[in-house]
Amino acid sequence: MDDDVASCRTLQLHLQTQGHQVGIAHSVDEGLIQVLHKAPELVILDIRMPGKSGLEGLPEFRQALPTTRIIMITAFHDMESTIEAMQKGADDYIHKPIDIDELEASIDKLNSDNNDDLVNTEKSIQPGGHPLTMVGRSRAMKEVFKTIGLVAKSPATVLITGASGTGKELVARAIHRASASPDGPLVAVNCAALVETLLESEMFGHEKGAFTGAVSRQEGKFALARGGTIFLDEVGELSPSMQAKLLRVLQYKEFTPLGAKQPQTTNARVITATNLDLSEQVQRGNFREDLFYRLQVINIHLPPLRERKEDLMDLIQTLLARINKELRRNVSHITKEVLDCLQAYHWPGNVRELENLLMKCVALSPGDKLTRDLLPDYICRQAELNPPLPQASGKPLERWSLEEMEKAHIQRVLDANNWHKGRACEILGISRPRLRRMINQFELRSPNGTPMEEDELREGSRA
Ligand SMILES: Nc1ncnc2c1ncn2[C@@H]1O[C@H](COP(=O)(O)OP(=O)(O)OP(=O)(O)O)[C@@H](O)[C@H]1O
Ligand SMILES: [Mg+2]
Repeated sequence: MDDDVASCRTLQLHLQTQGHQVGIAHSVDEGLIQVLHKAPELVILDIRMPGKSGLEGLPEFRQALPTTRIIMITAFHDMESTIEAMQKGADDYIHKPIDIDELEASIDKLNSDNNDDLVNTEKSIQPGGHPLTMVGRSRAMKEVFKTIGLVAKSPATVLITGASGTGKELVARAIHRASASPDGPLVAVNCAALVETLLESEMFGHEKGAFTGAVSRQEGKFALARGGTIFLDEVGELSPSMQAKLLRVLQYKEFTPLGAKQPQTTNARVITATNLDLSEQVQRGNFREDLFYRLQVINIHLPPLRERKEDLMDLIQTLLARINKELRRNVSHITKEVLDCLQAYHWPGNVRELENLLMKCVALSPGDKLTRDLLPDYICRQAELNPPLPQASGKPLERWSLEEMEKAHIQRVLDANNWHKGRACEILGISRPRLRRMINQFELRSPNGTPMEEDELREGSRA
């Protein structure tokens, strides 16, 4: 179901060649009438439609077709609509423009697993950009958003892993916001920040006089987090004795404040994060194996930014908007040269490093532009190893749209690698189907004029 008649038709033709019977509808209401008659095995539902949106219609489809697979199509690369779709009962989602390979992979996946009804559908989160929204269009981030949508409502323990600055805390906050008790407290504890006795008192609380300096009774974070979420950051740093105590909380929902005789209970949902490889810590004997398994009932992994450079444009836009608001500035133009540098850089500090860099640039920029001279040299070193982009249309670079940038950059990477697509994908940080789609979309041509190899031409014409 899509309001775009042409794209519906293309999809229909494609799916028919795969042996499916395909009906088309251009609005939610029209679609509902059709599915009641036809009881399809699969519904592909666009989010953005005139009248009722796909998200609004989703619960009605779910109700009418409890066991039918529903794949949502979204034009947004943000987390909110994805989480909402998954919570309202979608089985999967794909991005627009539709990549046939991605759609087929999604259909295959739905056919091969039967774990229906993972999703609770009562309450949806507010649509619209939250200041803590996460963005990203890479496959990896897509999986992250999907998992958040699927697990947020359950009380299961979640372990978030990833290098420093990849967005672990943001994921924890997103899970809390999408959880069954988003209005409950979200209490964060940094397990690496305090020495053991202070940490114990911080987590579990203490009675008056429990230790020197304990002049009054104090509630611990596990008590404060009742009815909400407790986020234990840097959990890999816990000492053996704190690991034992945490295990007890997870097993029995029970903890004892320092100096107290009676244990207390907690119903807080536990989310933990670490930038260490916990399984390696287990092997080295630094981390209890039983605790490790308890913590990682669900594991959400955030890959480093250099492995998902296709998220870079979304991140730059989102972070710039945030920074402009915070600094009350309006720096909204980036020169081509700056983008080249940012694309080529390897980002050891991940998204946080990008954020700090943009913050510094915005603060130092005299006008509304981010120019090369604002960047420290080390950021540009990698880009300088490659020749600069020919200045095509003669238009000043600061008037280029992001799309023009993207097109020019992809052309350049392809040319620099003799149109070796595997290598280009690696450098660009995108999948082959995506590269193929972009080559089609931007009508890119190799120097000798051949647009694509045979097999790719055939695939390209299908999409
Ligand atoms: N996908 C994303 N979309 C938007 N902003 C992001 C994204 N990922 C990270 N950020 C931003 O980058 C910064 C770092 O993220 P966060 O603090 O969650 O990372 P972290 O993994 O907890 O880092 P550390 O290991 O250093 O504690 C934050 O300001 C966060 O808002
Ligand atoms: Mg953090």
